[in-house]
Amino acid sequence: MKILAINGSHRKGKNTAEMLKVVLAGAENAGAETELIELMDYEIKECISCNKCLSKAECSIKDDGMEELYEKMLSADGIVIGSPVYFSNVTGRLKDFIDRSRPLHMVTNALDSKVGGAVVHAGLRNGGQELALQILHTFLTGHGMIIASDRGPKDNIVSTGPMGTMFESQADGRMRFKKGVSEDEVALLSCRRLGANMAVLLQSLGKE
Ligand SMILES: Cc1cc2nc3c(=O)[nH]c(=O)nc-3n(C[C@H](O)[C@H](O)[C@H](O)COP(=O)(O)O)c2cc1C
Repeated sequence: MKILAINGSHRKGKNTAEMLKVVLAGAENAGAETELIELMDYEIKECISCNKCLSKAECSIKDDGMEELYEKMLSADGIVIGSPVYFSNVTGRLKDFIDRSRPLHMVTNALDSKVGGAVVHAGLRNGGQELALQILHTFLTGHGMIIASDRGPKDNIVSTGPMGTMFESQADGRMRFKKGVSEDEVALLSCRRLGANMAVLLQSLGKE
C-alpha cells in the first residue's frame, strides 16, 4: 500500500511538511510505502474554466506539473493533504491544485475509494484551523475518498483532525509562541494516529 502526502505550504519543509512527515511515519510503522511531495516544487497553472474536463477526463493545460501530479495521485492508495491556514482557508497554491484536480473527478471518479486524510497548521490558537480542515475534507470526499480519523482506541475526546498551532500561551496581554510544530504534542499525536489509521483502513480494504 502506498500513501502519498501533498504539502500545499508556500514554505517547503516547515510546519505543515513536518506534520505530514509524522503522518507518513505513522503509516510506515503500519507497513505503508510513502512519498512526500511539495507543491512548491511544481509549476501549477490556474484552472481556466474551459470545461474540457466535463466531457473528457483530461485537462486542456498540458505544459505544467499537473500531469505528473495526476499520475502520482492515481498510483497512490491513500492521499494525505496538508495546508497552512491562510485567512482561515487553504493556500493559494493548494487551491489551484484542488481546482486542477477536476479532470480526475468529472467523467470518471478516478480517486474514488482511496483513503484520505488532511492536516492543517496555523499561527494562532483559533486561527481558522477547523474551517481549513473542513475545506480539505470536503475536497477529499468530493473525490469519493474515505477519510481516516486521527483518534486512538482509548481516546475519549472528539477531534476533527490534526491541527497545529504556533500559539503557546498568553500573559499580560502578550502572546508567546512555540518554536514550531515539533513542540506541539497534541498535533503530533494526532498526525501519528492519522497515519496509522490510514494504513489500517487500507489493510481492511485489502491493500497490502
Ligand atoms: C498569507 C498568510 C495568511 C495567514 N493567515 C492565517 C490565519 O488566518 N490564521 C492563522 O492562525 N495563521 C495564519 N497565517 C500563519 C500561518 O498559518 C502559519 O505561519 C503556518 O504555521 C504556516 O505553515 P508552514 O510553516 O507550513 O508554512 C497566515 C500566514 C500567511 C503567510
